[in-house]
Amino acid sequence: MKRFLKIALFIILGIVVIIGTILIYFNAKGVPTYEVAIPEQIKTLKVEVTPERVARGEKIATVLCNGCHANNENRLVGKAILDLPAEFGKAYSLNITQDKEEGIGNWTDGEIMYFLKTGIKKNGKYSPIMPKLPRMADEDVKSVIAYLHSDRFPVQATKGKQPAQDPSLLLKVLTNTVMKPLPISTEPIRVPDSTNVIEFGKYVANDMIACYACHSKDFSKQDPIHPENSLGFYGGGNPMPNLEGQIIPSANITFDEETGIGKRYTEAQFVEAVKLCKKPDGGVLRYPMQPHISLSDYEVKAIYAYLKTIPKIKNKVN
Ligand code: HEC
Ligand code: HEC
Repeated sequence: MKRFLKIALFIILGIVVIIGTILIYFNAKGVPTYEVAIPEQIKTLKVEVTPERVARGEKIATVLCNGCHANNENRLVGKAILDLPAEFGKAYSLNITQDKEEGIGNWTDGEIMYFLKTGIKKNGKYSPIMPKLPRMADEDVKSVIAYLHSDRFPVQATKGKQPAQDPSLLLKVLTNTVMKPLPISTEPIRVPDSTNVIEFGKYVANDMIACYACHSKDFSKQDPIHPENSLGFYGGGNPMPNLEGQIIPSANITFDEETGIGKRYTEAQFVEAVKLCKKPDGGVLRYPMQPHISLSDYEVKAIYAYLKTIPKIKNKVN
């Protein structure tokens, strides 16, 4: 019996030492670096800056980028991400103005596109916190790049440096095991014809804004390449910290009559909720839901039409 206990103790000790060594290794290694394998047609990309693209890019960036990157003067010099769950450590969005030393004035268009789609920066570093845009149409990604190169106020060269990222041990372990950069596809991706309302709404909701990312069950059970495979697709309940650290679960926006928006939102009320954060009862939707003011009524109505077609999920969110 004594002998058996001794062996068991040694085995447990061995396991503890092995796990400890692995953790020390990941802690020292940090977030991993990858080969920057930019496909030829993206590497040689040169985005022509046209007024149409700048307008479109500004509209997309207003919804998707500025919230994280703009300081209180609305310049995209970066800042601390205050609503990052504490267990991931500290993250800072960076200076993406045209400044050549402290911004991204020295990045090529190909490097920007590759990063936006995969999460791999020009120095190979993987960025786990910055959202990726693997399914956004090529023309829309080019519009975002045109906006970054434009003379619009938020992107003009501005000095401003953020502290180094400070990922927790958990985030280091995750990025060395399950969190990976996204594969890059060179298949052309187009914006669907806007007269096909449901396809168009699906594009805006899933591929352009990624409403599903907040509105499905769990950030870690999502499939950014095939959003429909995400757990609890649009059924809500994803626990999200607001800027004060309180947890605000996302809403069920499937058309389930009891627990979703099937009975509670007319099309007109949905437009007001998505664009202005106004609830049908006169209340206000709470952060991290934000007013998507730059989307057109037509785009939001198309999202409504699309949501009507997806499977209803019974999930009561409090
Ligand atoms: C959730 C917050 C968040 C959003 C939204 C966001 N970013 Fe970022 N961004 C970050 C963080 C955090 C980093 C730092 C990544 C790192 O170094 O690990 C970053 C880094 C970058 C970089 C690399 C800068 C450098 O010098 O390394 C670029 C370029 C960039 N973001 C562009 C964009 C664009 C364009 C959008 C909109 C399409 C956007 N970001 C939306 C958080 C965000
Ligand atoms: C950053 C995360 C986030 C994103 C992105 C987001 N939402 Fe939300 N949304 C929320 C949260 C959290 C709530 C719950 C707010 C509350 O309870 O006050 C919410 C609430 C809503 C509601 C109200 C539902 C109800 O039951 O009253 C609607 C409608 C909605 N969102 C639609 C959308 C659409 C459409 C998009 C994409 C254009 C979107 N949301 C993008 C987080 C998000």
